[in-house]
Amino acid sequence: MQVAKSIVEVRDAVAESRQRGSRVGCVPTMGALHAGHLSLMTECRRQCDYVVVWIFVNPTQFAPHEDLGKYPRPLEDDLAKCSAAGVDLVFTPEVSTLYPEGFETFVTVDQLSRVFEGTQRPTHFRGVSTIVTKIFNIIQPDVACFGQKDYQQQALIRRMVRDLDIPVEIVTCPTIREPDGLALSSRNMYLNKDERQAALSLYQSLQWASERVRAGETDLVRLRGEMLDQLRQQPLVQPDYATIADADTLEVLDVPRGRMVALVAARVGTTRLIDNLLLPEL
Ligand code: PAF
Repeated sequence: MQVAKSIVEVRDAVAESRQRGSRVGCVPTMGALHAGHLSLMTECRRQCDYVVVWIFVNPTQFAPHEDLGKYPRPLEDDLAKCSAAGVDLVFTPEVSTLYPEGFETFVTVDQLSRVFEGTQRPTHFRGVSTIVTKIFNIIQPDVACFGQKDYQQQALIRRMVRDLDIPVEIVTCPTIREPDGLALSSRNMYLNKDERQAALSLYQSLQWASERVRAGETDLVRLRGEMLDQLRQQPLVQPDYATIADADTLEVLDVPRGRMVALVAARVGTTRLIDNLLLPEL
């Protein structure tokens, strides 16, 4: 496995693999790799001959008060995991490589960056769409794998790729969960034992919403309220939102329609967690 720090090294390695006729895939990550990321690598490997993993804690998607400084960076561990997963190339650039002095160009996906996570984190998705554009420009992959766990992120990236005619296929891989249902997240490591237990309520509220829709519930306004009530019953959980939306546009729905997704976000102790579930199609 090759580990690259410069853009030139990545471009050369990818060009060489293309000359051999490879289909190139990439898995963008911020490191602190867990089984969720490994499942993205497995899917990428299944679809592609040459797999590039991107490891970079992207400062522009963190607000000044967020956890950029304390975000975990276990690089040696991450490289060992990539190697075991059969990755061909890992790119771990420095901040100054991607954001040189005088950097001032950003990509914004207007509406999709403002809703849900965007209301709590107004500059977050501008940072994500900008860095993902850079990923696509540097690696020029045929395929890029993202997790369903960050549902809004993958919806926004799909929209950006469509709107800007970026020639990459976006693959969204299912959320990987602990046996008790907690969605894997690098931020789970901040939870203490009681918070870890309370955090299960996020997935439980999603499952409950899914069952209600399957059973024929058509009042999604009431359902949203009930999801929030359920989350509030947990003293350690402070919900930000619990909602049901169109699975592509993320428009909030009052009555069931087409492909739908239930989305929740909550602070559990001091840790902010998100989760989602695609709902049964009617
Ligand atoms: O999902 C992530 O880890 C990040 O948002 C991404 C896509 C790697 C961009 O920094």
